[in-house]
Amino acid sequence: MGELEQGRGGLRRLIYASRYAGGGDFGEVVRTIVNASIQNNRLVDVTGFLLAGEGRFLQWLEGPSAGVEETFARIGKDPRHDGVVTIADGRVDRRRFRDWNMAQHRLGVLDRPLLSEIGLEHFDPTGLDAARAEHLLVEVGERHLRGG
Ligand SMILES: Cc1cc2nc3c(=O)[nH]c(=O)nc-3n(C[C@H](O)[C@H](O)[C@H](O)COP(=O)(O)O)c2cc1C
Repeated sequence: MGELEQGRGGLRRLIYASRYAGGGDFGEVVRTIVNASIQNNRLVDVTGFLLAGEGRFLQWLEGPSAGVEETFARIGKDPRHDGVVTIADGRVDRRRFRDWNMAQHRLGVLDRPLLSEIGLEHFDPTGLDAARAEHLLVEVGERHLRGG
């Protein structure tokens, strides 16, 4: 994607964590969310990555500031999760997930070493700082994009 597509607000990247509100099959809910996200995010030029597991979400949204704003406002009102905490929000120079309007990964045992790398025994991303959240998403994301 070109330099100009970000528009006047610049390229924005937002990371937040939240908790699944329960009341259905988690995997099914994640799939439904991602299907809607792929369609919606394309319309506002937002790309990103959703990490889901142990009833928790950690999501990376990037794109034109207005698109990220509008998308995150909608996500914040979604009753399927609660305890939404913004971990990072600001300008960035480039996209990290440019090929994915939204991709998702379900955390599994293979991701354990990565979690301990950032000091987590369980996937509880709420208290993560920006650097550790970014590290986790980029590492899992890159593995995911390679098809691993
Ligand atoms: C953890 C989580 C992540 C979500 N991510 C996105 C997203 O990236 N883009 C999006 O449009 N909707 C996302 N949603 C869904 C929105 O909250 C909302 O349900 C949806 O955008 C409504 O779209 P629809 O009217 O096309 O169904 C997410 C919801 C949850 C719970």
